[in-house]
Amino acid sequence: MEWSDPSTFSLMPRASATGSSLPAYAKNTEQPCARVVALGQLRVDVVTDRVLLFRIGVAGLALMRLSPDGSNEDIEAALAKLVAIAPPDTGHVDLLPEVDAATGYREWSGTYDAPGNPLIALEESPVVALINQLKPGLAIDIAAGTGRHARRLAALGHRVLAVDSSAAMLAPLRAVAGVTTVVGDMTALPAPTASCDLAVCSLALTHASVLGPPMAEIARVLRPGGEAILSDVHPMIAATGGMAFYRNAAGEQRFVRNHVHWGVGVLGRLCLRRSSRQGVL
Ligand SMILES: C[S@@+](CC[C@H](N)C(=O)[O-])C[C@H]1O[C@@H](n2cnc3c(N)ncnc32)[C@H](O)[C@@H]1O
Repeated sequence: MEWSDPSTFSLMPRASATGSSLPAYAKNTEQPCARVVALGQLRVDVVTDRVLLFRIGVAGLALMRLSPDGSNEDIEAALAKLVAIAPPDTGHVDLLPEVDAATGYREWSGTYDAPGNPLIALEESPVVALINQLKPGLAIDIAAGTGRHARRLAALGHRVLAVDSSAAMLAPLRAVAGVTTVVGDMTALPAPTASCDLAVCSLALTHASVLGPPMAEIARVLRPGGEAILSDVHPMIAATGGMAFYRNAAGEQRFVRNHVHWGVGVLGRLCLRRSSRQGVL
């Protein structure tokens, strides 16, 4: 059910490709005990079937989108997908606990780059198109992870500083020519003021509970006229329970929280116009 699971996205109608108070399930780590609700043929245990509930919710969103003016065929297809949602195997428990970013990305690092992540498929081509337009210089990849963008930047001739709070995520980048990896936090970047020509931060700002500190750091490390390429999940995704879902080595579904930052759900290129070294975004 993680965003890397295309079956979750396939519940949404195609057109949908396109306060952080969140459902209480996030805190649900209590010992399982049955509390079953029947939805037609489907029996849902509201304590242990949290993944199933999310999938039903995504299917419901698809139907909401289609209800005003979707074609009868699309609505029938969405209903068929809703009906086809399978309950988990008997005895399977999917409590969906929340973990912090350090734990989550340490556990996820080994499988993060597995093929088929539709979020990355959506994000990669517009970000790469922006990256390709820039002249080589000193680039900082903030929350670089396993280094999708850092590798490309290095291949294009940039000198790259790849920063991430997870040593495990950075590990595959260590031997890449042209890339220096540093374990560090996006709220205290390990780079001098006005030192970078380019800052890239992809799919990570949503993990910050408050945007001010990482954004101030991006403004600080960029030279006057430097550029930032920032991508993230749309706040609607986070607001409707879309978290950074993954499975740990034991196969348990967990998530790192995506915080809701209304007004920032954009994929864009910011040209930073700074009149001084301490200019503002
Ligand atoms: C979804 S991954 C994105 C990785 C990479 N930018 C990409 O697009 O593939 C989010 C990354 O943010 C990192 N991260 C989360 N909070 C962070 C923080 N406060 N400072 C630095 N990195 C952080 C995680 O360790 C993880 O590698």
